[in-house]
Amino acid sequence: MTTILGIETSCDETAAAVVDDGQRVRSSVVASQIAFHQKYGGVVPEIASRKHIEVIDSVIEEALTTANCSRDGVDAIAVTHAPGLVGSLLIGVTAAKTLSWMWDKPLVAVDHIHAHTTSSAIGLDSAPWPAVALVVSGGHTTLFHVRDFLDLERLGASTDDAAGEAFDKVATILGLSYPGGPAIEACARDGDPNAVDFPRTMLGRDSLDFSFSGIKTAVLYHVNGTGKTSGGLERMSAQAIADAAASFQRAVVDVLVAKTMRAVSRVGVSTVVLGGGVAANTLLRKELREECARRDLTLHTAELAHCGDNAAMIAAHGYHLLQAGRTADLTLDASARSAAP
Ligand code: KG4
Ligand code: ZN
Repeated sequence: MTTILGIETSCDETAAAVVDDGQRVRSSVVASQIAFHQKYGGVVPEIASRKHIEVIDSVIEEALTTANCSRDGVDAIAVTHAPGLVGSLLIGVTAAKTLSWMWDKPLVAVDHIHAHTTSSAIGLDSAPWPAVALVVSGGHTTLFHVRDFLDLERLGASTDDAAGEAFDKVATILGLSYPGGPAIEACARDGDPNAVDFPRTMLGRDSLDFSFSGIKTAVLYHVNGTGKTSGGLERMSAQAIADAAASFQRAVVDVLVAKTMRAVSRVGVSTVVLGGGVAANTLLRKELREECARRDLTLHTAELAHCGDNAAMIAAHGYHLLQAGRTADLTLDASARSAAP
């Protein structure tokens, strides 16, 4: 058995987890900073790094204690080193390097987006690959052809706002709270998804890239009037806001599902996996499930606990890197951008 301690601090969640063989999650601790960023309507990088420093030690300790795991029981330390906010990533990377040096354990550098694909495989009896993976997070919307845990080919990605970012920005436009995804989902429950015909930007006929900035602007002008950026929200009823939220959510989900199916046709696989913060969205999960069922495709969605940022997926992905001998050394640095692919 191989036990990995995973550490994740790429954005506004400080997380640590203990996972056996990339499969069994013995503990997964996530300290969310949402309360500290909410009044600013988004993540403030300086606050995020400072909060990571304050809680990282106790989060790691809690993960080890909950798993009943001592330092001797840890075989390697896996940490997110990219992509994300560099000041935030550095806190996790520094903690992981320190423990690796003190405990004399291998260090493994994990790409956060790749780990979101692996999150969908946690707890499965057998690996779901080959598959098309849709990763929908705050900073990224990416389609991968995943041949194996470490063999990913990027098929397409967001060219401007990521899906989660669009949810967050549209929530602000509609006067809803941060983070916008859950707020829009809750508000949309009372709304009519067909009330407003927001654009579904598909880009070129064969494109597997995404663009969500157009729909964000469409919501802005729907609320304020064409060409105007403020002043309209006060005149909208609660029902009109719910209708806008529901119509926006429906349009984004339509595009995500359609592009995923385009990717499936392109690479010819029979399995789809879904991960990332937006993967918690009930409508997206339902629509993707129904479309996969219609086409006889197998769908694996990450468990809700593993959709948003967490360290269990970092430990799980780190396990496969360790097995492949892909360890890092103490020169490891944080990076705002993903390395290839
Ligand atoms: O993966 P994640 O936790 O962090 C990043 O790696 O960015 O994703 C966070 C994003 C945020 O934009 C948040 O609004 C969105 O996921 N999100 C949702 C839902 N829950 C979180 N979007 C739509 N529906 C949700 N239920
Ligand atoms: Zn994420």
